[in-house]
Amino acid sequence: MCGIVGYVGKEEATKILLDGLTKLEYRGYDSAGIAIRNKSEDLRIVRAEGVLKNLIDKVNALGDIKSTSGIAHTRWATHGDQSERNAHPHSSNDNFIVGVHNGIIENFQELKEKLLHNGYTFYSNTDTEVLIKLVDYYYKKYKGGPIDAINKVMVRARGSFAIALMFKDFPDEIWFAKKGSPLIVGKSDTGCFLASDIPAILKHTNKVYYVEDFQSGCMKNNSIIFYDLNGDDVTSSMELKTIDWQLSDTEKGNYPFYMIKEIEEQPKAVWACLNVYTKNDLVDFDSIGITKGYLKSLDMVYILGCGSAYNVGRVSECIIEELTDVGVRVELASEFKYRCYKLKKNSLAIIISQSGETKDSYEALQKCKEEGIKTLSIVNVKGSAIPRAADYNIYTYAGPEIAVATTKAYSSQLIIMYLFALALAEAKGDISQSEMKTYIKELKALPDKMESILSNKASVQKFANQFVSKKDVFFIGREMDYAICEEGSLKFKEVTYIHSEAKPAGELKHGTLSLVTTGVPVIVVATQPELIEKSMANMEEVKSRGANVIAITLEEFNVSNSSKYQIYIPKTNKLFTSSLVIIYLQLLAYYVSIAKGINPDQPRNLAKSVTVE
Ligand code: AGP
Repeated sequence: MCGIVGYVGKEEATKILLDGLTKLEYRGYDSAGIAIRNKSEDLRIVRAEGVLKNLIDKVNALGDIKSTSGIAHTRWATHGDQSERNAHPHSSNDNFIVGVHNGIIENFQELKEKLLHNGYTFYSNTDTEVLIKLVDYYYKKYKGGPIDAINKVMVRARGSFAIALMFKDFPDEIWFAKKGSPLIVGKSDTGCFLASDIPAILKHTNKVYYVEDFQSGCMKNNSIIFYDLNGDDVTSSMELKTIDWQLSDTEKGNYPFYMIKEIEEQPKAVWACLNVYTKNDLVDFDSIGITKGYLKSLDMVYILGCGSAYNVGRVSECIIEELTDVGVRVELASEFKYRCYKLKKNSLAIIISQSGETKDSYEALQKCKEEGIKTLSIVNVKGSAIPRAADYNIYTYAGPEIAVATTKAYSSQLIIMYLFALALAEAKGDISQSEMKTYIKELKALPDKMESILSNKASVQKFANQFVSKKDVFFIGREMDYAICEEGSLKFKEVTYIHSEAKPAGELKHGTLSLVTTGVPVIVVATQPELIEKSMANMEEVKSRGANVIAITLEEFNVSNSSKYQIYIPKTNKLFTSSLVIIYLQLLAYYVSIAKGINPDQPRNLAKSVTVE
């Protein structure tokens, strides 16, 4: 989704805003823009199509600019193409009000007709131009000041939005409002900042307020005032939070791309989770408030998420089923909201999300709450919307994840779900404490095994070139191996733009096999001892159609006759092989992506957190 940033203060606003946008570019890179003002001088608006660099070049071409306040935006197009005409900031025709917006206005057409009827004209196809002109309409019609106009818009416009506005009448003041989309504001000694996400302002402050839905406010003269929907000042009720991320966590360092940096950070991220949520080699969820008694009472677990978060659920389902008799249902959050089946009593809904802002997952959580089901969120971004709405929260300590294709957050979520499954099984009496200790020791050996894989990345890079010209690639496996193939295929598609599919290995012969011809790469994940013979039969099946079979397996399974290439993962408990297989699949996607000259951090048409339905 889009990224917005705003600043007012003593420092050079243009530099702070453009810096902030570079940290938000993972939220959208279709176009970008900035509106700046030097004290009460006129506003300057600069917009550019495409990646942020185009905007930075345009601003630099303007020479030395003085500015004390401004707002900026990087766009992920939802309404209107990626052209400069649709780039933000958008403004009223007289530039009286200028604004940037993250979100979607669902009734923008109806509002546009209302404004057209009142003499407004439009230069773009965006919902945002309508939103800004609606503020202008209420501001000029009712003369109740910015908050009155903004609050009227908050009620009248349906959908989600976080907006930052500049009013001609109020130099050196930035106004903001939130409903559904993320918005934080912070302060330093030299000024006030607002942004869609923490990395944009972490360089200047690690003290932030999380703006609540239907709140608005104003930043001026080093002060921030918050208002509610009645226009009352609610600043005293706002809590200033401290962010425990370091600026260096948001930097690429010596890495060419964030994706490979974050792939390499997985051992550390997994360790961090194990350190926080285990004690004496036993699972410790006390700090979260989830008791053994509560786990014992559960008959059903729903796991909800989108994309890779959903894929974590798919692997977890296999492990919970393997260890306990508790019912598990994994659902795509975007579908779950519209399913009609009644949620079972004595159940827990687990909502998995890296960003904690994914709209579909947030709505799925709300549905569970409406049906009286307890909710547990597993999230990487503290203070985001989903954990603020959930009954229980488990944070993954993966640190800021910037690359659009998730890697370290996926691996951390997987570890948390392993711990959840073990705690559930122990509470249910399906495993003993000493068995749990054995499993935990096995988990604590994973980071070193991940390191050993990462120390031999060349073993994957050598395959990359043979994929570059491919049109189709298949990832197949059985049961849990199929579940990890789903994540492998998603990663591959996201950053290589090559069509790939994950299929249950036994399902190919029922149709998909028609697509397997000479030279088609088929990655077969075969790590489950009880299924190895079946998986080898599937290797033979595709090999006989001319496929290039790459087997990801264990050394003890002799698959060399059934596959062209073999990748052996370090030995680990069969429940945890996914955590090692995924490293190879992420590296494959990464190396094929850069072999194709693609920027794996910003795959086309995608964004890091999807805050619209
Ligand atoms: C994964 O690489 C993608 N970025 C995407 O599928 C992502 O997993 C999905 O949008 C869910 O995001 P979340 O974990 O932030 O909720």
